[in-house]
Amino acid sequence: MITGKAVRLSAFEKRHLEKTRTWVNREDLAGFLDRARPVSEHEHSRWYENIIERQDCLFFAVETLPAEIAPVHIGNVWLWNIDTRHRKAELRVLIGEANGQNKGLGTEAISLLSQFAFKRMNLHKIYAYVLDTNPRARKSFEKAGYVLEGELKQDRWQDDRYIDVALLSCLAPAIK
Ligand SMILES: CC(C)(COP(=O)(O)OP(=O)(O)OC[C@H]1O[C@@H](n2cnc3c(N)ncnc32)[C@H](O)[C@@H]1OP(=O)(O)O)[C@@H](O)C(=O)NCCC(=O)NCCS
Repeated sequence: MITGKAVRLSAFEKRHLEKTRTWVNREDLAGFLDRARPVSEHEHSRWYENIIERQDCLFFAVETLPAEIAPVHIGNVWLWNIDTRHRKAELRVLIGEANGQNKGLGTEAISLLSQFAFKRMNLHKIYAYVLDTNPRARKSFEKAGYVLEGELKQDRWQDDRYIDVALLSCLAPAIK
């Protein structure tokens, strides 16, 4: 468990699956996550069995604090493509509950996992791909200390057009 001020990151477990599938199947969120098609319950279960075995990704559920009220699962944050040789990983985040968004919780989840990656996993660089159609995510990563490395031109095909993608990153000493 990684505990922050307003959220905690808990080990991702079966109890987090149902909400997660609801979120990834929502059209508005799927676009930001670059998912092209809905996920069935069976596929979702297989995905879970796969990710808990893999060494190159690390999933957390984002749950609200304070703990005196029952924590609420509002989203997920995870490291993807963990590369121990080059000491880097991609960070992905999803705050799926509408009433959990725009309250600083996504930014805190990004910061908490980035610090964990640097301090506990000894990674050196964390990066994120953010679609240009998602200025809120861009702002959130920047608030967490990420800076622009470059723009990937016309990198994704979505809604009948190509979209540029920003590559943002944070190096170990620069994290807030
Ligand atoms: C992106 C996401 C992680 C941000 O987390 P959040 O808790 O909602 O956002 P925060 O409150 O921490 O910060 C958002 C910031 O963006 C700003 N913002 C919101 N909408 C904006 C917009 N359209 N343009 C520019 N900035 C915007 C907010 O004002 C806030 O900045 P401020 O604190 O300086 O006012 C979350 O909304 C989310 O998961 N969205 C859906 C999935 C997604 O986009 N994932 C990221 C894929 S890269």
